Amino acid sequence: MIPVLVPPGLQAALDEAWKAAKDVPGFLLESEARFLGMMAACAPREGLIVEIGSFKGKSAVMLGKLAEHYGFGPIVAIDPHNFNNAELAEHRTDPGATSYDEFLKNIEAAGVTPYIEAHRAFSRDVAKSWNRPIRMLWIDGDHSYPGAKADFDGFMPHVVPGGFVALHDALHEFPGPIRVFVEEMLRSDRFGAAGFVNSIAWSQFRPEDSFSFRHLHRALDEVASMLLPFVASDQPLSGIRKMQFKLARSRVPRDLPSIKDWTKSLNP
Ligand SMILES: C[S@@+](CC[C@H](N)C(=O)[O-])C[C@H]1O[C@@H](n2cnc3c(N)ncnc32)[C@H](O)[C@@H]1O
Repeated sequence: MIPVLVPPGLQAALDEAWKAAKDVPGFLLESEARFLGMMAACAPREGLIVEIGSFKGKSAVMLGKLAEHYGFGPIVAIDPHNFNNAELAEHRTDPGATSYDEFLKNIEAAGVTPYIEAHRAFSRDVAKSWNRPIRMLWIDGDHSYPGAKADFDGFMPHVVPGGFVALHDALHEFPGPIRVFVEEMLRSDRFGAAGFVNSIAWSQFRPEDSFSFRHLHRALDEVASMLLPFVASDQPLSGIRKMQFKLARSRVPRDLPSIKDWTKSLNP
């Protein structure tokens, strides 16, 4: 049993944080941002929050606001900010700019610069010399399978018991996040409560007492692993395959739980 402390005023703190994050350009839905905030606020106090993939700072602002409110931090935000993929390049606002300029501007405007330790680097390079404990690992960088697996392998050894691991875009057409979640987390005996909130796949690291979560993992594995064949080739889906993917995805439970229900599910 790992006690989970819900800090006072969490709902209001999430509202405040979302108010600051909602207009920052990015890909995070409101339910996902709120859930990130819940994990950040309820994770064990020991260790840092590590974010891989910051883009223009939407999730960093959300997390930074909670760090400001509750006095934890810093949020380690890792991103080379080099627009290395076509989808992100579409978000370039002027030809010379990178997401770094806007990231700095957005965290400053939200007043969270003091709570963010930014690394303009690839995650694999930061992982090489990483030696600090992690209370929450938020993986939203390279969504290829080798990329997501390297992020998991590089930082997971530093996650403290009771800490949270979450991957974004696990229910979108990317091969990495969903496969890492199914193979490394649901099929491992080191994780506890787990689930999806929209496209975030998450679990709590419970190396000592994961036993009572096995039935939950099996049930999630059954629906989540149906998605793996669709995303394995890393090619965009179309026509009937896309419809089949969406049908398979509709079987995955992914609503945002209330704070009360969620914290109860961590220690059933
Ligand atoms: C989907 S965006 C992140 C969105 C962000 N979390 C938000 O809330 O808006 C993905 C980001 O990951 C970064 N990225 C890609 N590969 C990376 C890697 N190997 N290490 C760190 N960041 C990476 C990209 O530069 C991009 O800014």
